[in-house]
Amino acid sequence: MKFLITGGLGFIGSNLVHHVIRMTDHSVTILDKGGYASRRESLQGLPVERAQVVIGDICDAGVIDPLVEDCDAIIHCAAESHNDNSIAGPAEFVRSNVIGTFEVLEAVRRHKVRLHHISTDEVYGDLELDDPNRFTPETPYNPSSPYSSTKAASDHLVRAWIRTYGVEATLSNCSNNYGPRQHVEKFIPRQITNLIDGVRPRLYGTGQNVRDWIHVDDHNSAVMAILDRGRIGDTYLIGAEGERSNLDVVKDLLRIFGRPDDDFDHVNDRPGHDLRYAIDPSKLTSELGWAPKHISFAEGLAATVEWYRDNEEWWRGSKAETEAKYSKVGQ
Ligand code: NAD
Ligand code: DAU
Repeated sequence: MKFLITGGLGFIGSNLVHHVIRMTDHSVTILDKGGYASRRESLQGLPVERAQVVIGDICDAGVIDPLVEDCDAIIHCAAESHNDNSIAGPAEFVRSNVIGTFEVLEAVRRHKVRLHHISTDEVYGDLELDDPNRFTPETPYNPSSPYSSTKAASDHLVRAWIRTYGVEATLSNCSNNYGPRQHVEKFIPRQITNLIDGVRPRLYGTGQNVRDWIHVDDHNSAVMAILDRGRIGDTYLIGAEGERSNLDVVKDLLRIFGRPDDDFDHVNDRPGHDLRYAIDPSKLTSELGWAPKHISFAEGLAATVEWYRDNEEWWRGSKAETEAKYSKVGQ
């Protein structure tokens, strides 16, 4: 089979390309606009005859159309992905996440190609810390940020194209990913690279906010299970029972670096900061028999720290610019 993976030079997309090459005999075309979060180096070492890169924009029908025509299935990862950026400048999020998904859907409709749409648990809004309920596919949409509202819009477009035009698509909404090749703007890589540089971690607000962490390889194995065995038209929530407060994650990292557990700074909170995300993954586990492999967050985090220690040339070029953006807003 030939896959088209949009956003395949980003964090999840590049790990997915590695996963597909490692676990199958499929070939992959990667379409990515080559934005600030993309890295050509993320695909280093892969056989070129099985992983071909096209630099181009999903919003450009002339680019996406022939690539969709030429593939057997498309996994749509491309998006602007960072909440803080969406607060500072929402326009690119509307363009890439909404218009971009529209153009992907139109190409899929023209060429009748199977689509899997990658989305986020943030479309459901947030939960109270003590809410016994977690997100399920039936939870009403209630996004809070410019980022999550554009992802919600993209999900609605996919569902409308399934129902109205009979497009063969599935959707997944996943919780917070961690692992190698994640941009240093995101929480875990930012704190790891701060600690490597001898800088104190930065915690937004009180740090009581909870995220439901999953290793990126587990996200990607779930996506492959959905492509393989998922019901067309259905939505699957991907999560690995990984709820943890931001404060606890910072303390875990300080421990790995052998630093005292109060050696961090509280900084300005994110406007509209979602309090808690939590996924009920039971549909995925019971219907598709999927299970995560990285069940120890402590081990996954330690391996991620090692990856950033061993791959400084991968992230060093983005670090100063990213920190300069944060310092402008006191974060
Ligand atoms: P990322 O920012 O690391 O990568 C996104 C990639 O998409 C980048 O390489 C970027 O250049 C590319 N891209 C953006 N706009 C594009 C456009 N118009 N045309 C072509 N390429 C474009 O993001 P990520 O963390 O890898 O997220 C990938 C997907 O997974 C997104 O759809 C995101 O909403 C979703 N998701 C992410 C997480 C997470 O924790 N990171 C969790 C759930 C879902
Ligand atoms: O839930 C899935 C989502 O997870 C994805 O859809 C998004 O693409 C992805 O970026 C992520 O969104 P978050 O906003 O949860 O991730 P982020 O890494 O930006 O922040 C995680 C938490 O850490 C959040 O509560 C904010 C906090 N934070 C973040 C940074 C960068 C800090 O306390 N300090 C920081 O320096």
